[in-house]
Amino acid sequence: METILILDFGGQYNQLIARRVRECNVYCEVKPYNTPLAELRAMEPIGIIFTGGPNSVYLDSSPRVDPEIFSWGVPILGICYGCQHLAYSLGGQVTPAQDDSAREYGKTLTRYDTGCKLFKGLPEEGVSWMSHGDYMAKVPEGFALTARSDACPNVAIADEKRGFYGVQFHPEVNHTQHGVDMIRNFLFEVCHAKGDWTMGDYKDTAIARLREKIGTGKVLLALSGGVDSSVAAALLAEAVGSQLTCVFVDHGLMRLNEGDEVEEAFAKWDLNFVRVDAEARFLAKLAGVEEPERKRKIIGEEFIRVFEEEAKKVGAVDFLAQGTIYPDVIESGAGDAAVIKSHHNVGGLPDYVDFKEIVEPLRMLFKDEVRQLGRELGLPEYLVSRQPFPGPGLAIRIIGNITKEKADTLRQADFIFREEMARAGEDKHANQYFAVLTNTRSVGVMGDGRTYDYTLALRAVTTSDFMTADWARLPYELLDRVSTRIVNEVKGINRIVYDITSKPPATIEFE
Ligand code: XMP
Repeated sequence: METILILDFGGQYNQLIARRVRECNVYCEVKPYNTPLAELRAMEPIGIIFTGGPNSVYLDSSPRVDPEIFSWGVPILGICYGCQHLAYSLGGQVTPAQDDSAREYGKTLTRYDTGCKLFKGLPEEGVSWMSHGDYMAKVPEGFALTARSDACPNVAIADEKRGFYGVQFHPEVNHTQHGVDMIRNFLFEVCHAKGDWTMGDYKDTAIARLREKIGTGKVLLALSGGVDSSVAAALLAEAVGSQLTCVFVDHGLMRLNEGDEVEEAFAKWDLNFVRVDAEARFLAKLAGVEEPERKRKIIGEEFIRVFEEEAKKVGAVDFLAQGTIYPDVIESGAGDAAVIKSHHNVGGLPDYVDFKEIVEPLRMLFKDEVRQLGRELGLPEYLVSRQPFPGPGLAIRIIGNITKEKADTLRQADFIFREEMARAGEDKHANQYFAVLTNTRSVGVMGDGRTYDYTLALRAVTTSDFMTADWARLPYELLDRVSTRIVNEVKGINRIVYDITSKPPATIEFE
């Protein structure tokens, strides 16, 4: 498999670089800059990209890669800090920008030498996205200047003989016009990539690797029914079949038909599917609990207990499988990047199950690649394109104390909302949408009688990263249909409201 190595110096856009490369059907991996050179070499990269980073390359404390890498005969593209690192390591000079005009941040008009392979076929002028405070005072011998801005004569450098390129700007971000074409040029014009990496190939390779690693061992996986654990389960099922045991804990706070759907999706594989109906047990623990954090804690702890009991029945296993995906790994702090969040799947291994090794078959995939792999494996679309669903499930969407009746009421209402969203095609626009059973009761009138029932809240948001979100502008007709249906079809609800708060100041969940 031809591989591009992305060497991580702690930049903000490193995942984006990886995405851009994979979008060109070329496989790549992001590795910390201080990974042992032998390990990097063993990847046999056809090209290397140095990422940006927050440091200044002339400081002793700054991250640097062993200069031996420059003798491999492998093309290198340095981006921002990566560019300065390349120049500095090969004999150039990098200094703090002397005056403000040489520091460049944001959109900058840039002129390119289209005779340079990196800019081949591009317009001679375009906007690039800059973010650098250092300046390449002298470029190394053998390098030509291939792009300039008003403030900077050396926005890009190239030694075409050795296949070394550097750009001060960020071609991977959308603000850089034709940035994707530059990455494409590096891959295809410079590294001569074939661009034949497909998810089908990835699937076959992953299955072969899993078979080799697992041998005749036993594997245990906690299947939540979410996209990641489902795809991990399907891949393992395809690879080692009956050696795999999936434990699906139904805590009674799942969405309507969810347990049946998950079970059905895995029926075609010869694996051990353990479905634990633990509704009564969870509801008993949650009885009378109103505080959302306590609910979360109780469910988390009880989940571990149930899983542990099931694991004991399976006996000692060789591998514990987890659905960790690539953003979890990168965000956990590769290289010297600031740790944005340390994901619970990475590093913290459960110590309550007896196993020898961990296996994370999706560790190298982005979310949409995981979905694509799920489709390749024949998982149904409703599982693969599923919206996020919190681990504690409907427990946190029932405000106040939880009862089975309330859970059933919310399940039905939520189902109607989701059904109508899909019917109206709005499920393609909103990134997450669900119903919430508030703890408010109010007077209504139905037929000739007075009612005193619950208020249900609908929540739908658009977001790209789930860190911030905007409330979705759903059509009134759709809201009207959902409201009419729920009040007519679901007992115990006589009023519907729509949540029009963004995150921040609210959160996506309504708990
Ligand atoms: P908030 O409510 O914090 O949610 O804006 C952001 C995203 O995280 C999801 N979420 C969870 N996911 N376990 C999960 O796996 C949880 O306990 C949990 N809590 C919130 C939420 O649905 C939204 O997508």
